[in-house]
Amino acid sequence: ANSSFVHQIADDDIPVGAICQDPLNDTSRAMHAPHDLFGARTNSLGFDLDRAPHLARVQAAKVPAVTTVDTSASEARAALDRAHGAFGSWNEAGFETRSQILLAAADLLESHTAEAMQLLADEGGRVLADGLSEVREAVDFLRYYAMQAATMGAVKVLPGPTGEDNHYWVEGKGVFLAIAPWNFPLAIFLGQVSAALVSGNTVLAKPAEATPRTGLWAVGLLHQAGVPHDVLQCLPGEGPVIGDALLGDSRIAGVAFTGSTATAKRINIQLAQRDGPIATLIAETGGINAMVVDSSALPEQVTRDVIAGAFQSAGQRCSALRVLCLQEDIADAQIEMLTGAMQELRIGQASDPATDVGPMIDAKAAGGIRQYLSAIDANGAQRLAETPLGVFGDDPRYVAPQMWRLADNAMPDREVFGPVLHIVTYQSNQLQATIERINDLGFALTAGIHTRSDLRQAQFARSIHAGNVYVNRNQIGAVVGSQPFGGHGLSGTGPKAGGPLYLTRFIQERTQSTDT
Ligand code: NAD
Ligand code: ALA
Repeated sequence: ANSSFVHQIADDDIPVGAICQDPLNDTSRAMHAPHDLFGARTNSLGFDLDRAPHLARVQAAKVPAVTTVDTSASEARAALDRAHGAFGSWNEAGFETRSQILLAAADLLESHTAEAMQLLADEGGRVLADGLSEVREAVDFLRYYAMQAATMGAVKVLPGPTGEDNHYWVEGKGVFLAIAPWNFPLAIFLGQVSAALVSGNTVLAKPAEATPRTGLWAVGLLHQAGVPHDVLQCLPGEGPVIGDALLGDSRIAGVAFTGSTATAKRINIQLAQRDGPIATLIAETGGINAMVVDSSALPEQVTRDVIAGAFQSAGQRCSALRVLCLQEDIADAQIEMLTGAMQELRIGQASDPATDVGPMIDAKAAGGIRQYLSAIDANGAQRLAETPLGVFGDDPRYVAPQMWRLADNAMPDREVFGPVLHIVTYQSNQLQATIERINDLGFALTAGIHTRSDLRQAQFARSIHAGNVYVNRNQIGAVVGSQPFGGHGLSGTGPKAGGPLYLTRFIQERTQSTDT
């Protein structure tokens, strides 16, 4: 193992955007680029230890005290009554007003970065690097949608024959139900909620069962920034209870959902079967994400990007790398380098700044992954490498980062939501066949290729089914406005979060034509 491999390759150019002022950094940065975590002195996955003075502030910050009680079906229906009643005035408040409120919320959130990081670590097991990155992403979402909405309120005059006035404008649709996952309990939650709100909708926001406090806290910030309480209500609790209570009601104009493909399909059926208008469904779901590496790739760069893609956030990202497809000629050498790098990953508590890989969201999720591993083991899969868990081996929430080769060079048949990397090999003349094997999985979220051949880059980008394609870099950490994020096929409906068209799914287009 090369103990300093990350540090040796830490000097890449750092793309820096322009929106989020990062209070944990002396310089203004962002739309944040996760690459900047590969700074001068980093832990193995890149957390910048040179931020130590700021880190002291994070460590001194208290986890915000938030209490939560599960919402019952009748409470959810009462919340819908209020949200429906509040729609008219919020819709009439106008895009500019709502945009200003989002900007105020972004400032508030930014000024509470340290507390948010503590909450994310405490409730969601998010290591500090992930927590910081998530707060910045949430701030970026708020500012990005605020900026887009600022100009959406104008009524446009459209052409027509003499004697006819044509006007076009957009407005909110009604009540949106925003349903979020636990793995980005702040950024994805606030992304959905802020897009729906700024477009003129009232919102019922349902955080995941595992992360209700983060959702309630974020909603509290939006209230503080000026969103009326009936316009935005947080409904922590069980997904099926709240879903069954609300999805059949014709007053739900739309659902913004992020989570598993199975839940998205269930919600789609419930919306389709209700009486009343056809609802909008925005679903961002899972993926079995692959990366292809050919013999021209730089092994150290591949190692860095595979380690980050597969194991950052303990693999609990929809974008995470699940299948690494290595050209036969370089497979053994690449696996050896990855194996060495995996020995360097530090397993630990989420709140410890030295930790690279923290726990799974809970022991049940970890148990599910262990069951999967036992099943593939029994079917002849070979474990190629594993990071030692050390003292965390006794904690049922931890799963070691590991690398497997399935029997018969098979692709995995499901999304394994943890630090499990599958290796597949291919012959040099099988690139297109490998792309087709990946496409046959049916998902289309992220995909990566490492090659120095322009032709192969182009071939891959043209033929791979993926919403986000990454070339010669890792495939996680999409930046708002730079890498609008989201897939198609089994991975979701689009539009892309943090992209130019996201808000269009939350609005209603209207025209008026008057004979003068
Ligand atoms: P999940 O589908 O179990 O839950 C997601 C949300 O849906 C939770 O809030 C849950 O309470 C709610 N829910 C569950 N059943 C429901 C029902 N019947 N009616 C209404 N709501 C219901 O997913 P998860 O385990 O929380 O998240 C992990 C999954 O999310 C993975 O598949 C991951 O790939 C995916 N994900 C996708 C993206 C993306 O942007 N594409 C981002 C993050 C996570
Ligand atoms: N948008 C997140 C990422 O790209 C999920 O990792």
